[in-house]
Amino acid sequence: MLDGKRTLFSGMQATGDLTLGNYLGALKNWVKLENEYETFYCVVDLHSITVRQEPAILRKKARTLLTLYIAAGLDPDKNCIYYQSHVSAHAELSWILNCFTYMGELNRMTQFKDKSAKHSDNINSGLYTYPVLMASDILLFQSDVVPVGSDQKQHLEITRDIAERFNNIYGDVFTVPEPYIGEAGARIMSLQEPNKKMSKSDENPNASIYIMDDKDTIIRKFKRAVTDSDNEIRYSEDKPGIKNLIDIYSVTTGKAVGDIEKEFLNSGYGDFKIAVGEAVADMLTPVHSRMSELTKDKAYIDNVIKTNAEKANYYATKTLRKVQRKVGFPDRIR
Ligand code: TRP
Repeated sequence: MLDGKRTLFSGMQATGDLTLGNYLGALKNWVKLENEYETFYCVVDLHSITVRQEPAILRKKARTLLTLYIAAGLDPDKNCIYYQSHVSAHAELSWILNCFTYMGELNRMTQFKDKSAKHSDNINSGLYTYPVLMASDILLFQSDVVPVGSDQKQHLEITRDIAERFNNIYGDVFTVPEPYIGEAGARIMSLQEPNKKMSKSDENPNASIYIMDDKDTIIRKFKRAVTDSDNEIRYSEDKPGIKNLIDIYSVTTGKAVGDIEKEFLNSGYGDFKIAVGEAVADMLTPVHSRMSELTKDKAYIDNVIKTNAEKANYYATKTLRKVQRKVGFPDRIR
């Protein structure tokens, strides 16, 4: 809770391009939350360097991501969209919370195990304490809710444990966050392996629609989407490819699943795939034009970066000072 408003915090990595899954499952719904919550959308560049990055590319992608959030409809006057590296309280709180987190807890984190297997030449301690930095992100803003995908649930759990542990020692310092359960958001699956979630880190570019893909690319990828061979547009668990396409068409157009089945009763997969591709491309067209306008307006984006970092700094510092006082650091002399 910040200034009487419930707080929502989300962090995202700028590595990998945002997908249709990110758009339909998250972004598109977040636009509706700005009046209900005090919202923070942080580009977590400190987290990104836990695996090796090309500096110029990281910097560029971070700016693209921040701009894309605005292009997708998040009003930066109402939603605080900022870079983690511009708010030093993240790193400072992270150090303190490291001292309240057990190695045994971190050893259990499945993402650490996965990432160390994937980057076995660079198992650095940042990768290990990644969840503590994430806890700091969330707790700095006294966040009530955090929208997280299933892969981040364990990190939210450890955040709650750290917050409760700290509160037990020092009194009510942190709000203990809950996962944000929005309206049944669509779970968009890979177009190539429809039993797997669509992911921005998928190595097969045909598996994901990227928000910035052009119309031809979108339609081509849908045409290649993996389906079964019975050529019947029916919503069923045992037809994961078609089920996914129906889901995408449904959230994109707002049409109900039953109506979609009727609409395509006499069509084959080929026609249906083109219809889905066109609907998705049409939905993304305004995002693309907004993105190209915003990219040209350097002064505007620079101003968003500056003012939102100031806002984030204000709230983050408030929590940090309280924590520093609690653990026994000396007061600052003004
Ligand atoms: N670890 C998250 C991910 O990879 C990103 C993240 C960092 C985050 N800090 C956060 C998400 C705080 C939610 C809240 O997706």
